[in-house]
Amino acid sequence: MESIIEVRNLTKVFNSRGRKITAVNDVSFDVNKGEIFSMIGPKGAGKSTIFAMMTTLIKPTSGSIKVAGFDAGNEDDRIRPIIGIVPQKLSLYPDLTAMENLELMGNLYDVPKKVMEERIGYYLKLVNLENHADRFTGGFSGGMKQRLSVISAVIHDPQIIFWDEPTTGLDPQTRQAIWKLARKFNTEGKTLIFTTHYMDEADKLCDRVAVMNTGKLMALDTPLNLKKTSNSASLEDVFIHLTGEEIRD
Ligand SMILES: Nc1ncnc2c1ncn2[C@@H]1O[C@H](COP(=O)(O)OP(=O)(O)OP(=O)(O)O)[C@@H](O)[C@H]1O
Ligand SMILES: [Mg+2]
Repeated sequence: MESIIEVRNLTKVFNSRGRKITAVNDVSFDVNKGEIFSMIGPKGAGKSTIFAMMTTLIKPTSGSIKVAGFDAGNEDDRIRPIIGIVPQKLSLYPDLTAMENLELMGNLYDVPKKVMEERIGYYLKLVNLENHADRFTGGFSGGMKQRLSVISAVIHDPQIIFWDEPTTGLDPQTRQAIWKLARKFNTEGKTLIFTTHYMDEADKLCDRVAVMNTGKLMALDTPLNLKKTSNSASLEDVFIHLTGEEIRD
């Protein structure tokens, strides 16, 4: 199995009003090329902090991350063009239309105009927003915003997509649509890395699941093996077993 991401002894300590918070504590793992990988764990487990380091938004305190062979922190300019990020808090411009939001992203990544037009047309159709291209996104529903954010993160055709809680707060139908899209990207050869607190999604849709708790990696395996190892019937049970926490929603 070829690795596309290598995380080694990764630690992040925040200084918050004189107090040190170890958000990520000596974590090591690989993400395989072409897999759907997810991170689960209670609030404050360190999932978003790992994401921020993998996507070059913040620097590790110690340890290292290689993304497609490039070192996060030292070769960020090489990493940024090959990754797409759908953040936990969506970042669309409400005073721009859907089309303008997508063009803005495409221009940020220097996507050639013709290629961009083709991709935008293709993706808008894929998420059923082709009739809303000229509407301001400020008036969009939550599900429409989520769908647009997802495609705005792939306008530059990244190899790896990072998705922080892509389906939180969405209705079941929109969650399904988002997942269909994720699988579609995966069949195009993209590696997907996301966080979720919907255990059923992680169970059904992911090749491997990493369980985080208080900055530590507690387990990493296929959903099936995680269930076998802790003698659990569901990922919910695995989660409770490893973290001592109930599922929040
Ligand atoms: N910029 C920051 N400054 C100080 N502390 C931070 C900062 N960012 C995160 N933390 C702390 O680091 C820890 C891990 O936070 P993180 O956001 O990575 O958790 P998470 O697993 O993504 O949680 P959630 O499920 O709520 O999204 C928490 O204790 C959080 O308060
Ligand atoms: Mg988070």
